[in-house]
Amino acid sequence: MKFGAIKSTVLITLMVWGAAAFSEVPSKASNVGGIANTRHNLTQSYLGGNAGFMNLSRNDYGEVCVYCHTPHGANSSVALPLWNRTIKATTYTTYDTLGTSTLTQPVAQPGRNSLSCLSCHDGTVAVDSVINMPGSGKYQASQASSQSDSFLNAWPGGPGSSFYGGHGTLQVSNSAFNEYGQCQSCHSINGPQFSSATIPAFDVFYISTDLTNDHPVGIRFPAAGPGVDFNQPNRITGSVSFFDTDGNGRADAKNIRLYDTGNGYSVECASCHDPHGVPSNGAGSVTNPTFMRVSNTGSALCLTCHVK
Ligand code: HEC
Ligand code: HEC
Ligand code: HEC
Ligand code: HEC
Ligand code: HEC
Repeated sequence: MKFGAIKSTVLITLMVWGAAAFSEVPSKASNVGGIANTRHNLTQSYLGGNAGFMNLSRNDYGEVCVYCHTPHGANSSVALPLWNRTIKATTYTTYDTLGTSTLTQPVAQPGRNSLSCLSCHDGTVAVDSVINMPGSGKYQASQASSQSDSFLNAWPGGPGSSFYGGHGTLQVSNSAFNEYGQCQSCHSINGPQFSSATIPAFDVFYISTDLTNDHPVGIRFPAAGPGVDFNQPNRITGSVSFFDTDGNGRADAKNIRLYDTGNGYSVECASCHDPHGVPSNGAGSVTNPTFMRVSNTGSALCLTCHVK
């Protein structure tokens, strides 16, 4: 099949994209009732048959959790809950290297509560790069630190067994840009297969290994003191310090938190985001946009930490 052939199929078969009523970001995912109805369902089953477009660049494991977690054979080289993904050794360009004159706190390489997200969002690892595939026998321990395409290709009917090959990353451009294997060949405004009428652009979701244009992560939270314009979290459980807004003593999904993984209690991606989605108004309600723990309406998320 040629690029042109695929593109016209896309145009003919797609319904209007972006009709979901409650989501800030236009999406066919309803963002109601759990992670399966969000963009973190890597099977994209909420698209029905159109999920097949993604078969060109990722294995459809037919399960939602398995792209990140496994009940057995998890990645024990990183202290993340039953982690099923490749965490490559990567050096990130941290925010402090930008050299703003205002930063006061020490910055370390992103902690594990950021590395989890970056294992997809930095664009260096395929979204389907897991250690333990569902079903017996398809397990490879070395996947914990390095991606093996031949292992991933062992998945029946996966992209590796098709003409296209390649397991897609969220990366915008590299030498493989023109292959279907890269998600961004269709989902980037610069991608050869991009069509704004039918395909959402994900350029801004590709965080990359350069974190100088992102809110700092791996950065220590300032201690209370004269002139410190930060609210202080009111509860600590082990390595997590959090704003216990409902006073139940638990770090609930909707509680903004700081993680101590060696640099003191620090801001990480999961301080602000919960990758499973957090209902905005109790069970059954639409989730806060972009997996936020707290809706940022009126900048409420920012003002949880910052006194401004
Ligand atoms: C896109 C990746 C991703 C998917 C898919 C995913 N999780 Fe998670 N999950 C995470 C990350 C990352 C954390 C750790 C968050 C942190 O750093 O605090 C986590 C933590 C958890 C935790 C422990 C902390 C908590 O929030 O309760 C449980 C339990 C959990 N996940 C269950 C599930 C289940 C069940 C599914 C499938 C229905 C699922 N997850 C799907 C990424 C994912
Ligand atoms: C298994 C791969 C994977 C992991 C792990 C992962 N993501 Fe994602 N994320 C995606 C994909 C795929 C999308 C859909 C858009 C795209 O292709 O970039 C997405 C979309 C998002 C979006 C946009 C949601 C929207 O409403 O449009 C946010 C925000 C996000 N991820 C944050 C995170 C954070 C924070 C973490 C870690 C706690 C994380 N992700 C972990 C794959 C992943
Ligand atoms: C051959 C082109 C193509 C490739 C490659 C591709 N996609 Fe898609 N993708 C589409 C099309 C077309 C749609 C819209 C389907 C619809 O609206 O029903 C889509 C929709 C999506 C959506 C749902 C958007 C929403 O919220 O409504 C997500 C998430 C997604 N793709 C993720 C990915 C990921 C991750 C990869 C790489 C592993 C990828 N795609 C590779 C064509 C592609
Ligand atoms: C201090 C809070 C905070 C931290 C830390 C944070 N984010 Fe976000 N993130 C946000 C907010 C707020 C938005 C919504 C921005 C918008 O609507 O444009 C967002 C949006 C996103 C999006 C959607 C793209 C966009 O710009 O709208 C992705 C993907 C994402 N974040 C991933 C991450 C990853 C990965 C990390 C860690 C490297 C991270 N975030 C750390 C607050 C944060
Ligand atoms: C979890 C707590 C937390 C949240 C939520 C948070 N921040 Fe921050 N922010 C910090 C910390 C810690 C620093 C580093 C402060 C320092 O070095 O003095 C920081 C630094 C900053 C800086 C200064 C960067 C520099 O170069 O000096 C800006 C601007 C900023 N945040 C904006 C925001 C915005 C906008 C939001 C909401 C989208 C937000 N923050 C949400 C904790 C947070």
